[in-house]
Amino acid sequence: MLDKKNILIGVTGGIAAYKVVEVASRLKKSGANVRVMMTLAATEFISPRTFEEITGNAAFVEMFGDAAHFHVAHVALADFADMILIAPATANFLAKAAHGIADDLLTTTILASDKPLLIAPSMNTKMFLNPATQENLKILKSRGVKVLEPASGELACGTVGKGRLPEPAEICAAVEKFFAAGNLSGKKILVTAGGTVEAIDPVRYIGNRSSGRMGYEIAKAAANAGAEVILISGKSELEPPNDLKIFVKVESALEMRAAVLKEFDSVDAVIMSAAVADYRVKNPAAQKIKKSSDTLTLELVKNPDILKELGGLKKNQVLVGFAAETQNVLDYASKKLVEKNLDFIVANDVTAAGAGFGTSTNIASIIRRGGQVENFPKMSKTELAEKIVERVAKLLDADKKFSPANVNQ
Ligand code: CTP
Repeated sequence: MLDKKNILIGVTGGIAAYKVVEVASRLKKSGANVRVMMTLAATEFISPRTFEEITGNAAFVEMFGDAAHFHVAHVALADFADMILIAPATANFLAKAAHGIADDLLTTTILASDKPLLIAPSMNTKMFLNPATQENLKILKSRGVKVLEPASGELACGTVGKGRLPEPAEICAAVEKFFAAGNLSGKKILVTAGGTVEAIDPVRYIGNRSSGRMGYEIAKAAANAGAEVILISGKSELEPPNDLKIFVKVESALEMRAAVLKEFDSVDAVIMSAAVADYRVKNPAAQKIKKSSDTLTLELVKNPDILKELGGLKKNQVLVGFAAETQNVLDYASKKLVEKNLDFIVANDVTAAGAGFGTSTNIASIIRRGGQVENFPKMSKTELAEKIVERVAKLLDADKKFSPANVNQ
């Protein structure tokens, strides 16, 4: 499973650093290409040379020292990695990573990376349970960083409690799971995001409150899982994520429909998170409308329902919709699931605190065909995006196993 995967291990200064030698060794034996970077404090516990022997690659410590043959070492290391594992992760590292402090090679590399990050904290129980550390972990998790919970047991400082680095086998299993979960390599995923804009005249438009954040996070999560991602975006102020195959910016629902239909035949899944306007102005004015009368009536006509159309055209594609509701959430969402022929729908009450437009968090439920409901607690849109992408990957994988072409394999 780890064949030719590029894994960058960051070792920070904890007593458990010695255990990471075995982690590096196991990952290498599983076929991964392993590189190690260490903080200066980590070298007090274990020598870089040990990691060099185990991995067959130079281990990096200094920002401007031994890494000189790499062109801009932190960028080169960040680019090399398919994923970064930090083990052991000290409380000090968690604090720096949570707040974007980059004062050595390891923390600078983390900041220069947009690759998946798996962190295995290890420290004294009181340090781990300290609200500062817990708060830092919360920040990191909300950004999509995966955290391997420390084990409980006897600690190096002589106390007993939570804070032990999990055993090497367990850390390696988490790394493998990381690559297995939502593995979308070779898959093409189309994501829509943002709100459409319907012109009234050359100056004004009818829009909605969508920020595009949910869809952009989904595009990012799908790209991180190895998919070729096409992001078709309506209005959004956000920067498109890196690693997209195609990024298309559209304005109106009609433009979004055309862009989506152009790609639909070639994709494995569509996640339609865009807030598409249901109506457009029948005859947008060619010139700016002057305020000559006391009232103004705009005639609106219905826009095509893009997702419903895809539901009709669907062959093997996995189709995912969103239902932004203000009442009877599960009822309305279940109806849309059936009407639009979806595999699942992500439903949320956009009026709930911590959910909906413009927030960084969401409170959602996933409803599947057959009616099974998964209710998620409030979580960051990054985390929710990963959950959605994982479920799409599972459906695509199930498709593959059961497709007639694979019966004799
Ligand atoms: N959708 C679409 N085309 C439209 C309207 C919606 O593709 N013209 C998609 C959205 O991207 C979303 C799903 O359909 O994935 C549900 O959108 P929503 O606005 O919640 O529901 P509507 O079908 O528009 O129904 P209503 O506005 O009556 O609640």
